[in-house]
Order: sequence, then structure tokens, then C-alpha cells
Amino acid sequence: MGIVDLAALGESFTRDPYPVYARLRAEGPVHRIRMPEGGAPAWLVVGYEAGRAALADPRLSKDWGKASPALPLAAVSSGPHMLRADPPDHTRLRKLIAREFTARRVAELAPRVQRTTDTLLDRMLAAPEGRVDLVEALSFPLPISVICELIGVPDLDRASFRTWSNDALGATDPEDRAVAAAAMARYIVELVDGKRRRPGRDLLSALIHGSDEDGDRLSHEELVGTTWLLLVAGHETTVNLISNGVLALLTHPDQLAVLRADFTLIDSAVEEMLRYDGPVETPTFRFTTEPVTIGGTLIPAGGELVLVAMADANHDPARFPSPQRFDISRDTRGHVAFGHGIHYCLGAPLARLEARIAIRTLLERCADLTLDIHPAALTWRSGMLIRGPRSLPVRFKL
Ligand code: HEM
Repeated sequence: MGIVDLAALGESFTRDPYPVYARLRAEGPVHRIRMPEGGAPAWLVVGYEAGRAALADPRLSKDWGKASPALPLAAVSSGPHMLRADPPDHTRLRKLIAREFTARRVAELAPRVQRTTDTLLDRMLAAPEGRVDLVEALSFPLPISVICELIGVPDLDRASFRTWSNDALGATDPEDRAVAAAAMARYIVELVDGKRRRPGRDLLSALIHGSDEDGDRLSHEELVGTTWLLLVAGHETTVNLISNGVLALLTHPDQLAVLRADFTLIDSAVEEMLRYDGPVETPTFRFTTEPVTIGGTLIPAGGELVLVAMADANHDPARFPSPQRFDISRDTRGHVAFGHGIHYCLGAPLARLEARIAIRTLLERCADLTLDIHPAALTWRSGMLIRGPRSLPVRFKL
């Protein structure tokens, strides 16, 4: 099998990867690729059936300790956490966190999400000439503020927290990323120590002081790793759900009009935003622990890197008719934007809550919101994990 060098496709792949995945899907579900950044060789799974099956395949490990030493991968993380664990460790970690990160805790955040959205929009609507970058005005600050509230990061520290998190994941220079990640890791260790002494009503305090019915609890390292995971998973993704969702609406005025006429459609609109252009393009790495045959192609054992093109699974016409059509009334059931199987996103209810409140309130307060850039001129975040525009210039009249 030939190797598809995604780096050779340049910017066009970053801007619009969907046609590339569709072309590969027409040839079969598994492809040998070279990743656009870092050039690591990987096996890419495309299509709905194969992708969904791969996401839940127990022979594909999430444990970086299982990765082939030949792979040129640089890990950024600050401790063990569930998204890097297989059963039974995964089962234990997820259970300990899920018992505290409950539907009730998410529901209790709703007034806070609304208040923060209102404050951000007050500021945005005061912008001169009615022009702003929506990423900076709303998509970025809302989720970081909500995740800080959930975890219990004090107000005073939020600005630094925000800078580190942005740089740890978004800086172009790998050295800047490492410096920010180290600063963030140090801060998280101090935060955990502080909450051990003076617990609050936040999730981190509950995780530190709680234990399950068998008296099991998270170790210090696991608390640090989990805080890191919640921060990264809860923040980087939701930013792009808001941005990609608003972009989809502004480039499909008919659908925007349908939503404006009936805001009870917001829930199904958000599901379609997740399907049509979700924030996670290919979820986090999986490594083979046994030989795995998918669609007649054998992927060898020994820690081979497997990527699932989730974005393509959500665009497979075998599952979603006319997948390139953005239709907020369509049946989106079965989309895999939050993953599938044991690692299914633990924060999906929170992400949905934030997107519904943010997008609905934005539209209610800006009766005349339009794009202030040609969509083809947008620049997109690099890499295959996260998909979203770096900035989203919009205009509005009051
Ligand atoms: C639109 C926003 C979001 C999207 C699209 C998203 C997507 C995903 C996906 C695809 C996975 C599975 C990754 C894989 O199998 O490799 C995942 C896992 C996870 N997500 Fe999210 N996520 C979002 C928001 C959040 C939020 C707000 C939180 C928490 C505050 C969160 C916490 C987690 C956690 C803890 C896991 C790991 C679950 C496990 O390993 O069992 N996510 N997410």
C-alpha cells in the first residue's frame, strides 16, 4: 500500500480536509499516511462503519506506553488520566471522576454560563464600528471561564491560566509550548495542594476529598493529570464548536433564518454543527496491541499509530444522506463528534450547554450578524486533532 503524505497537500488540507478523506474513503477504509505535522507514519481509518468500530476496538490502546518506540511523537501532559488509559485503569479513573462530574453539577453551571455569555456580549457589542473577532470576543473566553469555574481556579489566576493553556496547545514554536505546559503543570500542582488544605465547592475539591464506596480515591499524580485533561479537553474543543457552528450558520443564511424563526431548534442545530464541522477532526492517538484487520487491511501489532477520521465518519453518505448539506433539522443521531465506546466524551453535556447558550444568546442580541471576511480567507488551526478557525471576523448592527 502506498503512503499518503498529508503534508504534501499543504494548507488546502488544513482548510478543508473533507474532500481528501472522501477520496480516500472511495478507495477503502484504511490508509497508510504520514501526518502533516511531525511526519509520523500512521494508519488512517475513514468512513462511518469502520471508524465507529475502530473507536471502540479494545485491541487499539490509548496507553502511550504501548506506542512503538520508532514513532516520532512528543507527548504533552502532566500526569496519568483516563484518556490515556485502558481498562481496568480507565474504568477506575472514569468511575471516580464521573461520580463527581454529574449532570447536576453541569446543570448548576447553567446560570454561570449565561451570565458569562451576557458579560462577554455586552463587551463585544460596545466594539467600535460593530466589528470583532468572534473567537476572541466569545468562543475562546467563555469555555475557559466555565472550565475554571468547574475546576475551581480562583478569579485572580485565570488570566495566567488562560495564557498558559493557549500557549501550551496553540503556540507554533514547540519550545514555547513546552515552557507553557511546564508553567501550567506547576500551577496545577499548587492548586491541588491548596484545595487539599482549603476545599471549596468545586469539582477539584470534590475529587480530592471524595472517595468511592470501596474507599478508592485519585492519587496526587492522577489528580494533576485529570485536572490537565479536563482543562484541555473542556476548553480547546468547545471554543471551536462555537466558532465552527456560528460559521456554518453565517454561510448558510437559509438555516440561520430557520433557527432565528424558532429557537426551540437550537438543540438540533448544535447537533448538526457537531456533525457538519465538529471541533475534533481525528481524536487522540490509538496504538495497536494486536494485529487488527479492518476492511481487509491488516494493521500490524507492536504499537502502530491508528487515527480515526471522525470528521469523515460524520460525512459518510452511507450514514448521513447528502452529508455536505448543513441542515439543522436533519436526523443527526449516531454522529460520532463526541467519540464512541468507553472513551465517549465525559463533558458532552457541558459542551452542549455552553454551545446552546452562547449561540442562541449571540443571535438574540445581534439581529444582524454577518461574516466580515470571505470564508475562503479564514486561516485554520493546524494539526489533525482540532478543527477550527484561528479567528472569525464578524460584523453586526445594533
Ligand atoms: C464540543 C466540545 C467537545 C468535543 C467535540 C469533545 C470530543 C471528545 C472526544 C471525541 C473524545 C474521545 C476521544 C477519543 O476517543 O480519542 C472526548 C473525550 C473526553 N472529553 Fe470531550 N469533547 C468536548 C468537550 C468536553 C468538555 C467540555 C469536557 C469537560 C469539561 C470534556 C471532557 C472529556 C473527557 C474527560 C474525555 C475522556 C473520556 C474517557 O477517556 O473516558 N470534553 N471528548
